[in-house]
Amino acid sequence: MMTETAPALRIGVAGLGTVGAGVLKILAAHGPRLSTHAGRPLVLTAVSARNRAKDRGVDISQFEWEDDPVALARRDDIDLLIEVIGGSNGPAKAAAEAALARGAHVVTANKALLAAHGGALAEMAEEKRAGLRFEAAVAGGVPIVKALSDSLAANAISRVYGVLNGTCNFILTEMERTGRDYQDVLAEAQSLGYAEADPTADVGGWDAAHKLALLSTLAFGASVDLDGVSVEGIERISESDIRFAAELGYRIKLIATASRDGGQTLQQVAPCLIPAESAIGGLDGVMNAVVCEGDFVGQTVFEGPGAGEGPTASAIVADVLELARNGAQPVFGQPIQRLTPLRRMPPENVSAPYYVRLKLVDRPGALAEVTGILGGTDISIHQMRQIGGTPDPASVVIITHEARDGDLRSAVAKITNLEVSLAPPMALRIERA
Ligand SMILES: NC(=O)c1ccc[n+]([C@@H]2O[C@H](COP(=O)([O-])OP(=O)(O)OC[C@H]3O[C@@H](n4cnc5c(N)ncnc54)[C@H](OP(=O)(O)O)[C@@H]3O)[C@@H](O)[C@H]2O)c1
Repeated sequence: MMTETAPALRIGVAGLGTVGAGVLKILAAHGPRLSTHAGRPLVLTAVSARNRAKDRGVDISQFEWEDDPVALARRDDIDLLIEVIGGSNGPAKAAAEAALARGAHVVTANKALLAAHGGALAEMAEEKRAGLRFEAAVAGGVPIVKALSDSLAANAISRVYGVLNGTCNFILTEMERTGRDYQDVLAEAQSLGYAEADPTADVGGWDAAHKLALLSTLAFGASVDLDGVSVEGIERISESDIRFAAELGYRIKLIATASRDGGQTLQQVAPCLIPAESAIGGLDGVMNAVVCEGDFVGQTVFEGPGAGEGPTASAIVADVLELARNGAQPVFGQPIQRLTPLRRMPPENVSAPYYVRLKLVDRPGALAEVTGILGGTDISIHQMRQIGGTPDPASVVIITHEARDGDLRSAVAKITNLEVSLAPPMALRIERA
């Protein structure tokens, strides 16, 4: 309940693009109700972007204006800065630091900033007793940050995995639905605004890697270790891989997975096969989903829109409300000094079943050369199919039993060098659902 004496929480918004405008729209639509929930008035005081004259679909005339987001962060009539500029350095970092340095709270949607500087910013926040919250930075509107920091805190988490990039999921879903190839669907995603003009961060897996590094920290209480994430994008996935996988009961998704075993953590972003009948396998279009496995709760699944104006702004406003009610909490669910350095698990020691697609000369003995290499590298075959053949080269799809990543890579390198091999094999991990 709002009391007469409760001081207002005065808010500044740095960045008025997709997400910033969304925040202003929510505050305009629900301001009085949100203030009641917060138990104190939430007052938007000032805003900043590059171009004051730009039409943003929201009225900004009643707010103070700053050209410089750092000047906004330093204003003494701002208690909380919403940073929605973007970028791991530059004005976003400078503004967040300026706000935290004077003990003002920061709410951000910026995964690139936190994946690169989250530890240092959290230290600064906790030293100044300021809040730093980032629900919107991972899976947009899906409340996974709060779930891992609070709701699932009773558990030892063994694995967190899911689809954290809607652009890649849209492209893979469309390739499957229409039988079109990667470049064609990427161009469509760009024209629909689902993919950036430079799509590298999305399709190359880096956006998902930033988010995964934050999820690992929340799940395992270890420092943010972006360099420890092995990253592979979806650029090499062909329409035929998607079709072959479907024939075998799988779908191909860009899976971000963080798992812990024996005190070591594995962080991987890669296109994987996953059973079509699973929660992640059933995910279509731009949606995101995250599965958490805890020792007492078992498996929980969180699914929803991972980006866009409304969902992302919704997560930001939830963080504002949390800070208005409860003040600063540890940034990563526990005091920053308690986070342990992340001990990396060497990926070559990890075992999983694999999908391997080969393009071979269609002649007797070709396949025997391949199976000889697999057998000699300790990889046993679970299923094998030959697709096509005379007069075209044959595609052979093999599903292996569990194999060590290191063994699989060495077998693939040997197969690539065979005379009967017409193209490097495509090897994709099959993720356990
Ligand atoms: N879009 C999404 O669906 C989504 C989802 C989750 C997280 N995020 C994250 O949210 C953040 C913002 O994303 P967005 O999509 O809203 O970006 P955006 O549409 O490009 O907006 C960026 C805003 O920052 C302002 N800006 C850029 N450089 C500036 C500078 N040097 N000084 C002052 N203002 C500056 C721009 O000003 P002008 O408008 O005047 O050019 C613009 O208003 C990013 O960290 C992004 O990763 C976005």
